[in-house]
Amino acid sequence: MRSLGMGFVWVYTLVSLGCSKAETRNPAEADPNSTEQILPVNFDDRERPYRVFLTRILEEAEIPEELARHIQAVAVDGPAFLMDLLSALEGDPYLMALVDKEHALAAKYEPDDLVELTGGSYRVSRQGLLLRRPAEMALEEMAAAAQVAGVMLTVSSAYRSYSYQETVYARNVRESGQETADQESARPGHSQHQLGLVVDFGSIDDSFAETQAGRWIAEYARFFGWSLSYPQGYEALTGYRWESWHYRYVGRELTYFTDTYFKGIQQYALRFIYQWEKAGGL
Ligand code: DAL
Ligand code: ZN
Repeated sequence: MRSLGMGFVWVYTLVSLGCSKAETRNPAEADPNSTEQILPVNFDDRERPYRVFLTRILEEAEIPEELARHIQAVAVDGPAFLMDLLSALEGDPYLMALVDKEHALAAKYEPDDLVELTGGSYRVSRQGLLLRRPAEMALEEMAAAAQVAGVMLTVSSAYRSYSYQETVYARNVRESGQETADQESARPGHSQHQLGLVVDFGSIDDSFAETQAGRWIAEYARFFGWSLSYPQGYEALTGYRWESWHYRYVGRELTYFTDTYFKGIQQYALRFIYQWEKAGGL
């Protein structure tokens, strides 16, 4: 459990805040001629530390102003935001680990629950592909649902060790030059593939988006806890070009949290969680 103690105190505080708001408002509405004195409650004072903390985290996570304002509003409107955040935080820390251009995994990091993908309801493009066990289970669940809809998912790449990513990145630099390589391939330690929680589906090129599998997964992956890491239109944010085929397993709680509060953008949600955790939570 991380940072949950004070979080629950705040959920409790916000719930009671909601209740006292209702209790204060309702009697007056019910009887406008009532002479009973309604004591003013200064909610701003009670919400203030939470508001200030949230503002700081949103700023440090560099969440764009309009989105940050929206989150600030919903986050104090009731306990839902905090409860959804806390349930996302209860997951395996690696599910929400920020691994991007600025944040790297240790070279020696290697998950200890890797399993080989043998192809249950999905296909594999070659033997020897690995994923962490929870990701493989979620993949199987998603692929079985896709099959019911007549769609077959094919896994083309999955876990990559630090040293394998060194090879991949070096080959990209050799073939396309450093600048292009850096838009398409992560440097060793900076690839989400090292988490063992990522799958590249299908052709690993833009044509995947227009396939049956590409369309199905874009719509339904989130319900199985899979999240698109590098969406179209967010190249400046993620540092990578659009990759319609690269999905990271983050768990259902986190896809729900991301969709509900961060416009479905993984990078925003992970950056927010990173800063929240760094600050020690509430
Ligand atoms: N293609 C993604 C960015 C990676 O190399 O992990
Ligand atoms: Zn990938």
